[in-house]
Amino acid sequence: MSEKLKIILTEDGSHSLYNEDLKETYHSFHGALKESVHVFMLYGLDSWLMENPTKKPLRIFEVGFGTGLNAWLTLVWAEQNQIPVLYHTIEPFPLSEEIYSQLNYGDLDDGFFHYKPYLTRLHKMEWDKGAVVSEYFNMKKEKTTLEEVTLYPSDVVFFDAFAPSKQPELWEKQLLEKIYESMNQGGIFTTYCAQGKLKRDLKEIGFEVESLPGPPGKKEMTRGWKK
Ligand SMILES: C[S@@+](CC[C@H](N)C(=O)[O-])C[C@H]1O[C@@H](n2cnc3c(N)ncnc32)[C@H](O)[C@@H]1O
Repeated sequence: MSEKLKIILTEDGSHSLYNEDLKETYHSFHGALKESVHVFMLYGLDSWLMENPTKKPLRIFEVGFGTGLNAWLTLVWAEQNQIPVLYHTIEPFPLSEEIYSQLNYGDLDDGFFHYKPYLTRLHKMEWDKGAVVSEYFNMKKEKTTLEEVTLYPSDVVFFDAFAPSKQPELWEKQLLEKIYESMNQGGIFTTYCAQGKLKRDLKEIGFEVESLPGPPGKKEMTRGWKK
């Protein structure tokens, strides 16, 4: 995959990227911010918190750091809820400063203003090293692939790979199984994808699978629980 990337504006006013080689966007055209909030914050973090109403540290694994939107929204969530988060993310194709410095996420809501500088900090952080980013948010960003990475135990997994039609190898059952094995009991696997094969594979691996209402423009999404 080369880095032929263009910044695009999605329907909720938030930026995303278009990969010209894959002919694929990093988020939904119907709203990058809305999609991230819905799939990963609402059905990932908020659901975890409802099941675990304590202040114990939350371990998250993300497939595909990309624009950093999910990581940055999680930092905001961690600070607002005062829940310590250990965030592990991987990305084989980091963005250039020219691209990430233009992303408009920090300007989209008055409540984000205070957190705006953190998006750049997340991108500038050294690869392959854990670091304290803010009071409640620690992150390790590895420049590697899902195929290669060694996983830590996690409570919530943000599966945000490109669509199965564009990058089928990342949705292979054996990689999903690798994630399942690494997850803690009670863990949540959440993704925007609603494909039948994914749901069948997740069930066979051992997840309790739910089809949930999708973000704007999508009927459904998928969530798996490791019970
Ligand atoms: C749909 S985008 C989402 C990125 C990010 N979560 C965001 O909100 O911008 C998928 C990401 O997966 C990355 N990726 C590509 N191949 C990968 C691999 N083998 N392992 C992990 N991530 C990969 C891409 O470079 C891209 O950043």
